[in-house]
Amino acid sequence: MIMRAETLQPESLQLDAQGRLCHLLTLDGLPVDVMQALLERAQALADGASPHVNNNSFLASFYFEPSTRTRISFEVAANRLGWKSLLLTPSDSSFRKGESLTDTITTLAALGIDAVCIRHSDPSVATSAAKAARDSMAIINGGGGAADHPTQGLLDALTIRQLKPDWSKLRIAIIGDVRHSRVAKSDIKAFTALGAHQIRLAGPEYLLPDKAPENCELVSNLRSAIAGADVVIALRIQTERLQDSAALDVAAYRRDWCLTEHNLEVAKPECIVMHPGPMNRSVEIDDAVADGTRSRILAQVTNGVYLRMAVLEALTSHH
Ligand code: NCD
Repeated sequence: MIMRAETLQPESLQLDAQGRLCHLLTLDGLPVDVMQALLERAQALADGASPHVNNNSFLASFYFEPSTRTRISFEVAANRLGWKSLLLTPSDSSFRKGESLTDTITTLAALGIDAVCIRHSDPSVATSAAKAARDSMAIINGGGGAADHPTQGLLDALTIRQLKPDWSKLRIAIIGDVRHSRVAKSDIKAFTALGAHQIRLAGPEYLLPDKAPENCELVSNLRSAIAGADVVIALRIQTERLQDSAALDVAAYRRDWCLTEHNLEVAKPECIVMHPGPMNRSVEIDDAVADGTRSRILAQVTNGVYLRMAVLEALTSHH
């Protein structure tokens, strides 16, 4: 049973009275200097800076939805910092015996866990966990429903800034299931806060938000969205969040929205291509693009480790 806290304000929970990061729940309202500091630290780690090793820290991973990249990269990040990482499987934990989220979280804190990464289809769960943990343990949102995936937003920003550091010049196109994608939501928040010149969101109407978020433009055609773009991000259709995924016409989607070398001809010549993974090849992205010279998809994965190291360091630096 999940206990819902009465008022949920993730933005106000994640910074302490001194403005230091104590949970990472959303990029909404996260001060841009906090984002920049995480990106700079992650880049320094990528460039070979020594991590702040702490052999007494523990990370617990609590995933109610599948994950490969996020979970493993948090574990690799924790291990590189000297931490121990533990996996708590919802189906094998006391959660199944009816223990509330609050009791599970306070138990983990009493066991001496320093940080818990939670992924859940309900975006309020990580926030409820942070309310239960207070300042005894850091909560990281490892993906909440269709709403937030803060570390993915930041690692995508890191990947972009490595090759294109001047945000004020960037045209970024995000293609596909923007409506149900937490990655798109967090990417938009990060890129907007960092000052991206323009963000275009493109996909079939039923996969686009009803209203364009601030700083974004809704585009109904793939080539117009890609034209002149510096960065193109393809998304997986979130079939698990569609009301009727059986009605999805994959052939039509591929015809209209798949990123191909041919379509990318209209982008800037030095345009990069990203995808948060997992990819459905030949649906939203062709092999030639995914494995081609513009692709930064594996760089995103590698950057995820450095970014998550920076997050774990920041969350526990003041303990
Ligand atoms: C994404 C997720 O789970 O939101 N994966 C990830 O964390 N890299 C994207 C997806 O599942 O499509």
